[in-house]
Amino acid sequence: MAPSEQPEPTENDTPDLTPDEQLAEALSGDSDELPTFADVASHAHAAAQLDPDAPAVLRVENLKMYFPVRSTGVIRRKVGDVQAVDGLSFEVPKGGSLGLVGESGCGKSTAGRAITRLYKPSAGKVEFEGRDIAPLSGRDLKPLRRDVQMIFQDPYSSLNPRHTVGSIVGAPLRIHNMVPKEKTLARVQELLEIVGLNPEHYNRYPNEFSGGQRQRIGIARALALQPKLIVADEPVSALDVSIQAQVINLLQDLQREFDIAFLFIAHDLAVVRHFCPEVAVMYLGKIVEIGDRDSIYTNAHHPYTQALLSAVPDVGQAVTGGRRERIQLTGDVPSPIDPPSGCRFRTRCPIAQEICAKHEPPLLQIGKRHKVACHFPARLGEAPQQPVTARLLGVDAHGQPDPGATPSSDLVDGPGYADTWFDLDAKTIGRG
Ligand SMILES: Nc1ncnc2c1ncn2[C@@H]1O[C@H](COP(=O)(O)OP(=O)(O)OP(=O)(O)O)[C@@H](O)[C@H]1O
Ligand code: SF4
Ligand SMILES: [Mg+2]
Repeated sequence: MAPSEQPEPTENDTPDLTPDEQLAEALSGDSDELPTFADVASHAHAAAQLDPDAPAVLRVENLKMYFPVRSTGVIRRKVGDVQAVDGLSFEVPKGGSLGLVGESGCGKSTAGRAITRLYKPSAGKVEFEGRDIAPLSGRDLKPLRRDVQMIFQDPYSSLNPRHTVGSIVGAPLRIHNMVPKEKTLARVQELLEIVGLNPEHYNRYPNEFSGGQRQRIGIARALALQPKLIVADEPVSALDVSIQAQVINLLQDLQREFDIAFLFIAHDLAVVRHFCPEVAVMYLGKIVEIGDRDSIYTNAHHPYTQALLSAVPDVGQAVTGGRRERIQLTGDVPSPIDPPSGCRFRTRCPIAQEICAKHEPPLLQIGKRHKVACHFPARLGEAPQQPVTARLLGVDAHGQPDPGATPSSDLVDGPGYADTWFDLDAKTIGRG
């Protein structure tokens, strides 16, 4: 049958729907209210757990990605930079997953593209298995493509409509000589089966598949080279919420089976909570809070994280101390070409003070696996009177230089977590 004669695709074409998945799918049906991922999460596998002893497969240090802004006219001079990513530091454990969340435009995709080396970072280190891949170029990048892959947000635009599924999934196998030519088809069919697609459909075109199935094709393509790390850029946000549970289940199965680490980029905090035992929250190119699931979802100490979480029905209550109201942020997100001085969140922060305009808050470790970049870190409504960072920065409460203070760079910035941290109650260094 020619491609144009194929019947209209439906999600039920997926051959491996379990009863739970069918239930989840039904949830997106006739209900008056649109279900959220939290509604269907019971149909997903159990939430992923943290292995605190796993070594880091990816270690990102002070990663920056700037795009030059040029003047118009004949001589196009550089007049500034879009500071899309401005000093990210974090680790992703082997076989684990870190979630990267934040509003649209905060730099999530740019960070993902710099880490997978689709972009050359402007500065910083990207250590994959201990080797800095940031300076690599040309041929030196080819071996890296095997180990680090990306799943893209849009399952419609990320698959070439003129190529068959077999050609799309088989391309990385051919380019990297992964299997002898005569065995490519068998391997493609195996990959299609792994992601829950009919292996006999290898000669069909992307437009013959539904959104969920297309994302499975994208996943099969990413899996073809048996990567150790996948940067998944909003892998389920273009899908119906019921189909999200199926795809999340698939990613969890693949992660366990093949020991793949994930940097999981997403808007939806409920999806991230399920898939990622650790989460980093970004605002305007920087990480403002990072920590394990409990630290972020029930003990957030940054006003921005608290505002984001208050908008998620099932986690809002924990972070707002039982109150149901949503924290409304006022003002627009500033331009990354000319970000605010000091703390980038200060123009929208409900508790900003003088020091916030003068000094950028360091990403201070405040718990065993919890860091926050705020001069006044606290649970909602409990902000301290004085900036806790003043002594570390060598300034007074207003941000003016304090000759009596001894600045310290201990406990701040850098990827990973130290064994000691800043105890917010005692205002001293705590111990793990
Ligand atoms: N190639 C580019 N040239 C110039 N600016 C860019 C480029 N790519 C991204 N930007 C800018 O960098 C900032 C971060 O963009 P990015 O796409 O990384 O955000 P995001 O967090 O992924 O957003 P979304 O959630 O909408 O996908 C934005 O201001 C964007 O306009
Ligand atoms: S540093 Fe200041 S402006 Fe920034 S989040 Fe904290 S209180 Fe708000
Ligand atoms: Mg994006």
